[in-house]
Amino acid sequence: MRAVWLKEFGGPEVLVPGEAPDPVPGPGQVLVDVAYANITFVETQFRATGAGPFRAELPMIPGNGVGGVVAAVAAGVDPGWVGRRVVTGTGGSGGYAERVAVAADGLYEVPRELALDDAVALLADGRTATLQLGAAEVRPGDTVLVEAAAGGVGSLLVQLAKAADATVVAVAGGARKLELATDLGADLAIDYREPDWADRVRAAVGAVDAVLDGVGGAVGRAAFELLGPGGRMVSYGLSSGSWAAIPEELAATRGVRLTRALPTPEALRAATLHALTEAAAGRLHPVIGQRFPLTHAAAAHAAMESRGTLGKTLLETAAAGRA
Ligand SMILES: NC(=O)c1ccc[n+]([C@@H]2O[C@H](COP(=O)([O-])OP(=O)(O)OC[C@H]3O[C@@H](n4cnc5c(N)ncnc54)[C@H](OP(=O)(O)O)[C@@H]3O)[C@@H](O)[C@H]2O)c1
Repeated sequence: MRAVWLKEFGGPEVLVPGEAPDPVPGPGQVLVDVAYANITFVETQFRATGAGPFRAELPMIPGNGVGGVVAAVAAGVDPGWVGRRVVTGTGGSGGYAERVAVAADGLYEVPRELALDDAVALLADGRTATLQLGAAEVRPGDTVLVEAAAGGVGSLLVQLAKAADATVVAVAGGARKLELATDLGADLAIDYREPDWADRVRAAVGAVDAVLDGVGGAVGRAAFELLGPGGRMVSYGLSSGSWAAIPEELAATRGVRLTRALPTPEALRAATLHALTEAAAGRLHPVIGQRFPLTHAAAAHAAMESRGTLGKTLLETAAAGRA
């Protein structure tokens, strides 16, 4: 099969297409013919340095989230899975490939009303957005600030916060991204590349009740300053390269709670199902901003790192569009 190999850490060019043996499903597993693989920002950071939540034994095929059609099952697995459209995690490796062997009990059948590519776009980002918004304990009428609001997770957070009856302040880089966040329901959209962005947020809405911080660094710290007493700072990412790293004592002085979701496997599954169900019902809309052929994974990573992407970035195999 065709796959994308990571043999050394480095720039996007270290993602090299090649051949790999077809995986063979072991006990409890199924074989999936992959149509789409999603890319998360974490995967670009892993590719660059080996840092992050994935195993770093090279050479490897990266990729943690795929969707396709079940082609075969191992002995003992319900043969009724064959032919069904599914999305699934791979455990952190093997996803940038035409086939994966994965545990049957980790599969999510894609609802009939939902396109397979939309389901793949939601697989990681939908559960992350659901869980992190939950950690923010948003109440109706709260003002919620979402960073990187036109990104994969951010574009879903804007919608979910709006659905929770919050006033949503979207911050992102560049006019196209602000326009997308507004289209998705944000009440206010501000470019945080402008040095006075935080002053503009404060002038428009005053203090905010919750910050969804997926950027970290200086942006995260400036967003923290916007929180009023009783506010919640949910730090779930560091696309800037560093965490916001707010000292606990400072947060306590300000009456702000520092938090993030640390879900159990059951909570991860429930959040994934929630996102898929909401999308199938037409209440949550994944934004697929970019699609690349599987073999162009390097270009896809380069686009994400350049901050030029909107919403989700997908890799497509020859099976895309058929399932
Ligand atoms: N996807 C998941 O399931 C998941 C799970 C756990 C944690 N996270 C965290 O959530 C955050 C968002 O992940 P994502 O996959 O949805 O990515 P993404 O938001 O689609 O892409 C990252 C965005 O971060 C912003 N950014 C700010 N500073 C940047 C910098 N120095 N270099 C590059 N980008 C920068 C850019 O948006 P602007 O141009 O608007 O600034 C960029 O588009 C990441 O920090 C990630 O680690 C994600």
